[in-house]
Amino acid sequence: MPRRYSHDVLVIGSGAAGLSVAIQIAAHARVAVICKGKLDEGSTAWAQGGIAAVLDDTDSIDAHVEDTLRAGAGLCHEDVVRFTVSHSRESIQWLVDLGVGFTKLVTPDGNEDFHLTMEGGHSHRRIIHAADATGRAVSDTLSGQVRRHESIEVFEQHIAVNLITRDGRCCGAYVLDIEKNSVDLFAAPFVVLATGGASKAYLYTTNPDTATGDGIAMAWRAGCRVANLEFNQFHPTCLYHPRAKSFLVSEAVRGEGGVLRLPGGERFMDRFHPQAELAPRDIVARAIDHEMKRLGIDCVYLDITHKGEAFIREHFPTIHARCLELGFDMSREALPVVPAAHYTCGGVLIDLQGQTDVPGLYAAGETAFTGLHGANRMASNSLLECFVFARAAAQSIAAQLGSVSSPSGIPDWDASQVRDSDEDVVISHNWDELRRFMWDYVGIVRTTKRLRRAQNRAHLLQLEIAEYYSNYRITADLVELRNLALVAELIIASALERRESRGLHYTLDYPQTSAQALDTILTP
Ligand code: FAD
Ligand code: SIN
Repeated sequence: MPRRYSHDVLVIGSGAAGLSVAIQIAAHARVAVICKGKLDEGSTAWAQGGIAAVLDDTDSIDAHVEDTLRAGAGLCHEDVVRFTVSHSRESIQWLVDLGVGFTKLVTPDGNEDFHLTMEGGHSHRRIIHAADATGRAVSDTLSGQVRRHESIEVFEQHIAVNLITRDGRCCGAYVLDIEKNSVDLFAAPFVVLATGGASKAYLYTTNPDTATGDGIAMAWRAGCRVANLEFNQFHPTCLYHPRAKSFLVSEAVRGEGGVLRLPGGERFMDRFHPQAELAPRDIVARAIDHEMKRLGIDCVYLDITHKGEAFIREHFPTIHARCLELGFDMSREALPVVPAAHYTCGGVLIDLQGQTDVPGLYAAGETAFTGLHGANRMASNSLLECFVFARAAAQSIAAQLGSVSSPSGIPDWDASQVRDSDEDVVISHNWDELRRFMWDYVGIVRTTKRLRRAQNRAHLLQLEIAEYYSNYRITADLVELRNLALVAELIIASALERRESRGLHYTLDYPQTSAQALDTILTP
């Protein structure tokens, strides 16, 4: 029998954004946190480099704003950038107070202070981090808080299928309990989408399997606008290894002196940008792609051997250990690296309170579009955005609690017309096909012809999946595939609409950047 739950706030997703909303609203409300795997299975736990914040006396809010605007290639919303950066210090303080163990160093006067590292696009050292496993430290601390909180109920292995709206307001979601195989009703007057990005739309990605764009797809189906989905960020340096599943080698490796080399040992980034290896990410990824295609090579090399083993073990213990497991000693040899899909800059349109177009529905983190990242996210601004907008959403919801209640009479999920699937191969085949044509046709360098090809295929897949969805009992794989196919179609539509090259969107048919910078906003 399907169950019916009722809470004040339903948080869908348990990464930095979802857990931060839950913790901050739990003093005022009964909260459900649902996630489709375990609590720590999103991108957050994988974050390496750290969190960008203005913490050093020589740094300033203006400088962080300026760097973000420059990396964003003219498309960032300056008010949103300033809002986010201005709240960076208090966000870090909140994490420190909760107990996140950021890396410290002893200053020349004998005091302890946080170590700040450097990444691409930043003009100052401003990345606070926990060695090279910042996400793990954040995720463990937030998860611990959530599990201990008496006002928060956690539902792992629960995947949200569709949002529920009544009279134009969001009032809950239908959720598949993956273990019990039942679709349950979660009613709540406030729902927060914190489902992460959609990089699993690509064959090669740094992201965990959770990144299937579910929040973007659910919000779109519920009537929300989405923006700037053509800006898919490719991280320049993922380990090139058949068994590594696109293991990330943090940008902080370049921040601490790592250089990129061609197979013959020659450096090349200075031919592409004055900041060389520390140019914004879109430029580095495109330069690598260019060199790989020009020379017909499978990868380039990231070399930090000159820093010596002790330095590397101290700063990059996780990366060093993982590379050793895979047969590479980064203190003695340069690492083979390639770009891979990493971050979804676009998403569900929200305002400075985290509200979407549908009353009662909020979004935060990578699933949302705030205007912070423009055409290219600057390194380590993502986690910062999660914390700042989670807090804004929690404050906005807290101010309205009690004024809205859940409507009665929401029906149970109707599974009377469907049967068990007898051809699951359709799902795995479509997954593979989708991710391959997105990689081949909607990648780092695009053309209108390739985008149109991808559009035709995405459309056919959508039709096939819709038929499957209406005839067969849903599974987690089907829910994800349905969402990913829709998001792929939205990415392609956005890419076709942009008739210029800017930041992460580079097309051979429109290589120039237009004088006027406009967002691509799609309306359902
Ligand atoms: P996530 O952490 O991805 O969490 C999403 C949650 O939603 C998960 O709990 C998932 O199970 C759940 N979910 C999704 N769909 C559903 C559904 N239908 N039903 C129920 N639950 C669902 N950014 C930085 O700023 N600094 C870094 O150093 C950094 N390093 C990175 C390294 C790697 C390898 C990766 C992959 C990303 C990195 N990023 C970094 C980006 C950053 O980690 C992410 O953008 C950020 O963690 C996203 O947080 P989130 O809370 O929005 O989503
Ligand atoms: C990294 O450590 O290179 C990832 C940083 C980010 O994605 O912001």
